[in-house]
Amino acid sequence: MLLNGKQLADSILNSLKTRVDDALKARAPSTASSTNRLFLAPGRKPCLAVVQVGHRPDSSRYVETKTKAASRVGVDTSFSVKLADNVSEAEVVEAIQGLNANPEVDAILVQLPLPRSMDQEKILACIDMSKDVDGFHPANMGLLARWGEVARQQASQGNSLPRSNVPCTPLGIITLLDHYSIPIAGKRAVVLGRSNIVGLPISLMLLHRDASVTVLHSKSLQVEEHVVQADIVIAAMGKPQAVKASWIKPGAAVVDVGINVSPQTGKLVGDVDFEAVSKVAGYITPVPGGVGPLTVAMLIQSTVHNFCVKYSL
Ligand code: GUN
Repeated sequence: MLLNGKQLADSILNSLKTRVDDALKARAPSTASSTNRLFLAPGRKPCLAVVQVGHRPDSSRYVETKTKAASRVGVDTSFSVKLADNVSEAEVVEAIQGLNANPEVDAILVQLPLPRSMDQEKILACIDMSKDVDGFHPANMGLLARWGEVARQQASQGNSLPRSNVPCTPLGIITLLDHYSIPIAGKRAVVLGRSNIVGLPISLMLLHRDASVTVLHSKSLQVEEHVVQADIVIAAMGKPQAVKASWIKPGAAVVDVGINVSPQTGKLVGDVDFEAVSKVAGYITPVPGGVGPLTVAMLIQSTVHNFCVKYSL
């Protein structure tokens, strides 16, 4: 069965639009007795600020896709910043600090990769963790390690922990598995790749959902022996069509996070040999139209979530 990320992302964006429209119409309750909750009428749209440094064509395409999805839902992106690739690290930090201090900004995303000359970790750590919509700040990563994606809801559960932001691609993967009622608890999951953006956080989320998780990477040996036992395979290693049909247990769910240009055809392909693997897998995501659109939908969802938490909506 095809896991249709595009269709799910569209329906999530449509419900977010309704939620934003309703939030903008919301008024403070007229009688004091109707609620004693803090209620502030927002009087503005949710706001996502994207910081792009340099003009990499792939980054510009991603930023454009995110901006379009935001405007479809009614999320403002007018505080976004584009900086030349020869700006100093201090100028990038200054731009982020300005967005941190701006009460009208709910979510900040620094498009990666940054120019090589910059200390990426230092820059990500400057983002206010409550606005860090990518969840890459060390404090958000720490909360994810401790609590999984549930950490997003901590504040509303009356817990004293700060509410976390969670990386968008892994959140999209969990949302997709849940939508198609693919069980996670007690299942064997293999994650191919250990990047901070996908491999590491999705491993933590699957672990917190009670999967038995194996993380494989460029130094792993006997990769196929592990993968063939998996009920859930997350391919996020950035190698075109590397996951072969012979690696897949019949009926397994295969989620392809790869976005590569095929050296043979010049077409967009994932990390999975889709044609062959789709004959063995029980569930599989296409590329394009699988995980990519969900990443964008989760970004907008988390932006709206931050806005709604701020105004108790
Ligand atoms: N570059 C590639 N993927 C991502 C992502 O999820 N977030 C950011 N900020 N940059 C990226």
